[in-house]
Amino acid sequence: MSDEERLMDGQSNDDEENTELSLRPQFLNQYIGQDKVKSEMKVYIQAAKQRDEALDHVLLYGPPGLGKTTLAFVITNEMQVHLKSTSGPAIEKAGDLVALLSELDPGDVLFIDEIHRLAKPVEEVLYSAMEDYYIDIVVGEGQTTHAVHVPLPPFTLIGATTRAGQLSAPLRDRFGIVEHMQYYEIADLEKIILRSSEVFNTQINEDAALELARRSRGTPRIANRLLKRVRDFAEVKGENSISLTTTQHALTQLEVDNEGLDQTDRKLLATMIESYSGGPVGIKTLAANIGEDTDTIESVYEPYLLQKGFIIRTPRGRVATDKAYLQLGLPPKNSN
Ligand SMILES: Nc1ncnc2c1ncn2[C@@H]1O[C@H](COP(=O)(O)OP(=O)(O)O)[C@@H](O)[C@H]1O
Ligand SMILES: [Mg+2]
Repeated sequence: MSDEERLMDGQSNDDEENTELSLRPQFLNQYIGQDKVKSEMKVYIQAAKQRDEALDHVLLYGPPGLGKTTLAFVITNEMQVHLKSTSGPAIEKAGDLVALLSELDPGDVLFIDEIHRLAKPVEEVLYSAMEDYYIDIVVGEGQTTHAVHVPLPPFTLIGATTRAGQLSAPLRDRFGIVEHMQYYEIADLEKIILRSSEVFNTQINEDAALELARRSRGTPRIANRLLKRVRDFAEVKGENSISLTTTQHALTQLEVDNEGLDQTDRKLLATMIESYSGGPVGIKTLAANIGEDTDTIESVYEPYLLQKGFIIRTPRGRVATDKAYLQLGLPPKNSN
């Protein structure tokens, strides 16, 4: 993956972690957008606190960069507990899970990112941990093998995933609270951009912030990343407040179009239109054609293109709409 692709893919990387920390809101009232999720969580958090119980297990799902990890930390702060963070692929065996869980105090949060990638044996151990706060594990080898019953403190599991569909039913069913993260409204992204520019100690004109918000693919992480790049252009130009002209110029350089589509989005649409006369075309065929994996297309690219009406899903595959033709500067095939 090239740097530019990485810029757009919504995944975080290490050199970003420090600024991510300060960019992340700490409490619900600082968390912008996702109003439905916030108002529901507010009730569940308050109720759990009033009963002095651990919050029920929470599953957060949706495309990368929409604030799942941030929300897990916010929930933890609101509950006034501690958070232990790990990810699905990092828990190799049941023993790893026991080690993590036994470090928790009552009410604490275990955050498992990419929970759809848990190993099956680990997942099975998680069932009783989530439901009844205990784990039965087998320890020792050969003749000394024996089962150990490990009681656990009441805890909250917060799972995050871009692929809720890949979670097994028994695991999904054990989450009392399931929240679907949505792409952000432009007005909310604008607020996030203004807040982030304060964190960066950078001025940005209102029209420039709005333009950036429009072209951020509904995704706060992309908004923050584009803001950093646009700021570079503005600084080199000697601007003391990021202007609309510079923003437009920078975004053109970064190949982000007026709808926020990046090269991969456009490549995907172009392939559908040019090689498959607009579809229907299967997701695997598309993936092979543009050299991306099916998973990335389904979790990152397709949801946004669907939501924006560039493609539709049919039983026989994906179809490009007139809007897609027009976006690529092509005459529409027919009226969809
Ligand atoms: N609601 C929000 N308000 C402000 N900033 C946000 C919000 N949601 C996400 N962000 C910012 O976007 C970036 C990505 O969020 P993150 O929680 O890591 O996304 P995810 O875990 O869904 O991939 C972080 O820098 C975070 O500060
Ligand atoms: Mg995350």
